[in-house]
Amino acid sequence: MDDLAIARALHVAAVVVWIGGVAMVTSIVLPLARRMTSADEKIVFFESVERRFALQARIATVVAGVTGFYMVHRMDLWDRFADPTAWWMHAMVAVWAIFTTVLFVLEPLFLHRLFVERARRDPEATFRLAERLHCVLLTVSVIATLGAVAGAHGAFY
Ligand code: HEM
Repeated sequence: MDDLAIARALHVAAVVVWIGGVAMVTSIVLPLARRMTSADEKIVFFESVERRFALQARIATVVAGVTGFYMVHRMDLWDRFADPTAWWMHAMVAVWAIFTTVLFVLEPLFLHRLFVERARRDPEATFRLAERLHCVLLTVSVIATLGAVAGAHGAFY
C-alpha cells in the first residue's frame, strides 16, 4: 500500500469516528438529556458523554486535518481551491476549521463554562439551542462528506 492510500484510509476512518460521534450526540444524547427533568441530571449526563467524546473528536480532527493536507500537498491539489466545481474541498476545510476552532479554542476558553452557567439558569432553552446547533453542524458535515466522496470519484467534472 502506498503513502497516499494510507493517508486516504486514515482520513476516512477519522471522519467516520468523528462525524459518527456528532450524529450520535445530536440524535441520541441531546434528545435524551432534554427529556430528563432536573437541570443537574441533564448537565451531568450530557457533560459526562461530551467530555469523553471531546477527546476522541480532538484526536480525529487532528488526524483528518493532517491526512487531508498531506493528500492536497502530495497530489498538488492546491489549484482546486480556486475551482468552483471543487466546492466540496472548501466544504471539507470549512467543517474542519469550525470543529477545530470549537474544540481547541472556544470550548477550553469560555464555551464550556458559558454552557454550564446558562444550562443551570435556563436548561430548556439551553438544551434546545445545543440541539439546534448540533443539527446544523451535522447537516453541514454530512453534505461535506457526500460531496467529498462524490467529488473524489469524479462526480463534478
Ligand atoms: C483540513 C481539512 C481537510 C482537507 C485538507 C481534506 C482533503 C481531502 C483530500 C485531498 C481528499 C482526496 C480528494 C481526491 O482524491 O480527489 C479528501 C477526501 C475525502 N475527505 Fe477530506 N479533507 C479535509 C477534511 C474533511 C472532513 C471534515 C470531511 C468530512 C466531513 C472529509 C471527508 C472526506 C471524504 C469522505 C473523502 C473521500 C474519500 C474517498 O472516497 O476517496 N474531509 N479530503
